[in-house]
Amino acid sequence: MKASTLIKIAHQYGTPVYVYDGDAMRSGVRTLKETLQGQVEVYYSIKANPAIAVCSLIRQAGVDGAEIASSGELKATIASGYDPKNLLFAGPGKTDEELSQAISAGVGQINAESVHEIRRIQAIAKELNKHQRVGIRVNPESDTSNSARISTSGAGQKFGINESQAISAIREISESSHLNFAGIHTMLGSQIISTETLVNNCKSTISMVIRIAHELNLPIPSVNFGGGLGVPHTKDDDQFDISDFGRELIQLVNEIKADQLFRECRFMIEPGRILVSKHGIYLAKVIDVKESEHSKIAVLDGGINHALLPITANQYQVEVINRKPTECTTPITIGGPLCTSADQWRSQVQLSDVQIGDLIAMYNSGAYGLTASMTKFLSRETPAEVLMIEGRVHLIRESSKPADVLRGQYVPSELQED
Ligand SMILES: Cc1ncc(COP(=O)(O)O)c(C=O)c1O
Repeated sequence: MKASTLIKIAHQYGTPVYVYDGDAMRSGVRTLKETLQGQVEVYYSIKANPAIAVCSLIRQAGVDGAEIASSGELKATIASGYDPKNLLFAGPGKTDEELSQAISAGVGQINAESVHEIRRIQAIAKELNKHQRVGIRVNPESDTSNSARISTSGAGQKFGINESQAISAIREISESSHLNFAGIHTMLGSQIISTETLVNNCKSTISMVIRIAHELNLPIPSVNFGGGLGVPHTKDDDQFDISDFGRELIQLVNEIKADQLFRECRFMIEPGRILVSKHGIYLAKVIDVKESEHSKIAVLDGGINHALLPITANQYQVEVINRKPTECTTPITIGGPLCTSADQWRSQVQLSDVQIGDLIAMYNSGAYGLTASMTKFLSRETPAEVLMIEGRVHLIRESSKPADVLRGQYVPSELQED
């Protein structure tokens, strides 16, 4: 996105503001779909960016469906035009009410994360007089996700059903009057930028599902390898290549299809980050610049109240966009406005002289931004989100208003003064 466009957006919508490049998101989805040649289905994990304009754009670009993890995400996908039968419902803490809403809406597959959850789904489906397709999320015994920046598997994790209980869980689904067994799901970690690790994770999932299928002598309707495809933040990060990964995944899938228990099996991935991260920029303004000992510090008008990235990845690219870079670069620490030292975008980054009033762009901000941030901390407003499509700028979510801070709060009469 051009600096001049970003500057105009900052003037029109104020700062901070999220800006998404819809054309790039579209072409990313198409590239991924082409790479997988219809052999592996793609479900957008909307937790990465649940703005309904973004979800709609990604659906129209050709994903097979979406992965959701709450009733709020169910509403967002339905509002974005997804057919409920193309939704996968994951997540370790689904309430009875959420399960009931999902079953009533006709969600295609619920991936149960515990044996107890399987029993709750059966009871709810029976009460609603519906049949529900249920898969299991398995937490594999061999944790191969060790190069994931964020691991969601391995001993002691709250996610999924332990591999050792997978067989009895599948038997329980198959024997339940209102459930049909829909497949096996894994999700080993997020932000994995090594193709080798991702492929090894898929290989270990495949060995596991083959073992389970043969022990049960049961055809497996679907295998879902989860998300986790990462994005490089710096030039030093491995440059993850989606086509290398796609090629290797197709080869693995074709090999397993030779097994008679997998002949009819559908294969899926449910990426979030890779579809949106690179195509979003968070724009913030410099409120203050100061020096402390030998360090220079800039304070912006937004921080971890609008983004999770400063906490999970203190490494991504930042740039001053309202001036041409000068030769003179000084190491500078960039913080947000919150009263916690966790609110730091970058530490000691080389930037051309930063001045009060400058506009700073944080790249790679399209995923886990506003949706994953501590929006209530310090009672500041949330930023607007805008989406660019074919050169036009569209407001897709308003910023909150100052009065919103008080909305829904009550002071008991005992505390009220005349
Ligand atoms: C079950 C599940 N699927 C998919 C994803 C998306 O992961 P990513 O954004 O790393 O692709 C997540 C992320 O936490 C998840 O928990």
